[in-house]
Amino acid sequence: MDINDKKKLAAEAAIDYIQIGDVVGVGTGSTANYFIDALADIKGKIDGAVASSEASARLLQSHGIRVLDLNATGQLPVYIDGADEATQQRSLIKGGGGALTREKIVANASRKFVCIADDSKLVASLGKFPLPVEVIPMARSSVARELVQLGGVPELREGFTTDNGNIILDVHNLEILQPAKMESDISVMAGVVTVGIFAHRPADVLLLGGDSGLTTI
Ligand code: A5P
Repeated sequence: MDINDKKKLAAEAAIDYIQIGDVVGVGTGSTANYFIDALADIKGKIDGAVASSEASARLLQSHGIRVLDLNATGQLPVYIDGADEATQQRSLIKGGGGALTREKIVANASRKFVCIADDSKLVASLGKFPLPVEVIPMARSSVARELVQLGGVPELREGFTTDNGNIILDVHNLEILQPAKMESDISVMAGVVTVGIFAHRPADVLLLGGDSGLTTI
């Protein structure tokens, strides 16, 4: 099975977590795009979607799925999104696509977070994937210096601006053994908008597509 088939397997399995009449939180990235395709097949059964990025909002709308403002919906029953890395404890690194801030907002506003991925994303500990940190532009250097003090090697994501008008520092070389602590330590740095560790609000369910089928954690 190639990697896209594995992503698709996980994405299609996430449809089982949706109930009739739900407003569905929808993530960003190639796996989330497969989920949006699957959601289009049942669009008559849902009430609409809240998107975690402009790109996902456009794709949802192109399928004729109503996109709603999170401020108008209240808490969502379910949020479906991919990840760059995931542990057995369901802590995640996200933000490879740069949408981490809105992803964290929608994840936090949802009762259940179902994470969908191919099984190569499952790791023993987080940190091999460079950790995305969204930063207010004027704090680029000061935040970078603080990240170096944590042992990381921050690199500016060249030519990239987030949906919120900010920059991304991708932090290499971090071994994240205590994800919740690292999430807190980076979140409090002045100028950090969001760090791509999802540990305080981890996924509730991990659906992993692999050669031998679907694994649920
Ligand atoms: C987007 O900002 C990310 O958090 C994505 O969820 C993550 O990069 C996974 O993307 P793929 O599904 O394309 O691997």
